[in-house]
Amino acid sequence: STTSEEQMYRPNFHFTPKKGWMNDPNGMFYADGYYHLYFQYYPDKSVWGPMHWGHATSKDLIKWEEQPIALYPDNDKYIFSGSAVVDTHNTSGLGTGKTAPIVAIYTLHDMTKEKENKIDVEQQDIAYSNDNGFTWQKFEEGNPVVKNPGIRDFRDPKVSWDETHKLWIMVLAAQDRTQFYSSKNLKDWKYLSEFGKNIGAHGGVWECPDFFEIKAEGTNETKWVLILNLNPGGANGGSGTQYFIGDFDGSTFTLDSNFAKKVEKENAVWLDYGKDNYAGVTWNNVPGTDGRRLFIGWMSNWDYAQEVPTQSWRSSTTIAREIQLVKKGNDYSLISNPVKEINKYISKTIKGKNLKGKGKLLIPEAGKIDLTQAIINFNLKNLKQDTYTFTLSNAGGESLTFGINNSEHYLFVDRSKSGKNDFSEKFASTITKAALDGNQKEGVFKIILDKTSIEIFYNNGEKVITEIFFPNQPFTSLSISSNQGIELSNLVLNQLNI
Ligand code: FRU
Repeated sequence: STTSEEQMYRPNFHFTPKKGWMNDPNGMFYADGYYHLYFQYYPDKSVWGPMHWGHATSKDLIKWEEQPIALYPDNDKYIFSGSAVVDTHNTSGLGTGKTAPIVAIYTLHDMTKEKENKIDVEQQDIAYSNDNGFTWQKFEEGNPVVKNPGIRDFRDPKVSWDETHKLWIMVLAAQDRTQFYSSKNLKDWKYLSEFGKNIGAHGGVWECPDFFEIKAEGTNETKWVLILNLNPGGANGGSGTQYFIGDFDGSTFTLDSNFAKKVEKENAVWLDYGKDNYAGVTWNNVPGTDGRRLFIGWMSNWDYAQEVPTQSWRSSTTIAREIQLVKKGNDYSLISNPVKEINKYISKTIKGKNLKGKGKLLIPEAGKIDLTQAIINFNLKNLKQDTYTFTLSNAGGESLTFGINNSEHYLFVDRSKSGKNDFSEKFASTITKAALDGNQKEGVFKIILDKTSIEIFYNNGEKVITEIFFPNQPFTSLSISSNQGIELSNLVLNQLNI
């Protein structure tokens, strides 16, 4: 029934629309005390359909309030993914009031042209808001701002202000590559360059790029990051998110040479290895002197998103994450971690006893907190060449397992026995793996649980796995097993109340 669906499957603190279908997060920016989140939305059914921009706001990136729909499709002209900027100096001239206009840039997708098998199905349009993002007007007299150049997949513009070159920069996905454009006024766009053909993962069409400058932690050096979603061809099948690190001269993006070697060796570098973090991009205009780089993704996968066992709504977002650039020697990489705001909602903290032993050990303290909204931290020390398996289980015999295989060097999540999984062949038929760089001596884990999702942040967010699951009753216990010897320490179990 609907009540049990609500109780069992509606996340406590990940955003879900009250009803209907959601996919990509869109147009995120901060203004006037609110983080705004728009999203690909079809209010009338819980499967994909005529795309709107739904809308939600939050003061802290954790508690979300759904707002009235921001943008409606015009008959068969759907509003696909895109971004939004705070036009502080009214460069667009679209501002009328005391507040800076907010300008949204999105793909208009023409379903009639699609049915007629035309090429120019997608173009970039803008809309603007003069009340900080609550109500919007399409820029009818000036759209499109970027015409279709004869590429069938030509979408998901991400615009941001490039402070170094004093220009608006747009990156968009053009089938198997990205294209860059620049503008002084958000209306007239000049083509600059392209990137990505034959570089990185290309198992599917490229979608939802993001592009930003970021300072390496503890240095004064900056690099440019290109986030690139693709479907299919993700790290563990279906939808996935890869990234590139390099330099940008105001016109061309060039891969960092060491990063290029890494891409060549590994084929792609992934922001998340789980099956359920897709189409993620970052916020514009985040406050603070350093302006945190904040990211959110769609916590599902096109392989089965429309079949997951919720009826009244489908899909949620990931937890909002802070992305940081780390430099080790001359190698750059990204780490991602849950935003610190989540810690405000910790209602109870239990420090666990250190565990030492072999075989299967119950973590007794886990039974004392509500595992349907929790953050669990621990270290695994003196790792042997063995597999360390954590098992979340319920009284119905269902379990979700995750952990580290330190003989073959990967992290894993296995949801094949975690509850409902027969709605799609692709949901649980393979174990999710994230390769680790060789033998691990110690593993530092942070786990976020919210009824139907697990988000694993390994070694301070160096490797991340995000996955959803649908048990028939909540998981209430946690154990760890290994044949060679377990040393579990620094165990902290935080119960959340959101
Ligand atoms: C990604 C995507 C985007 C597109 C949107 C349509 O999930 O396919 O490329 O703009 O969804 O809803």
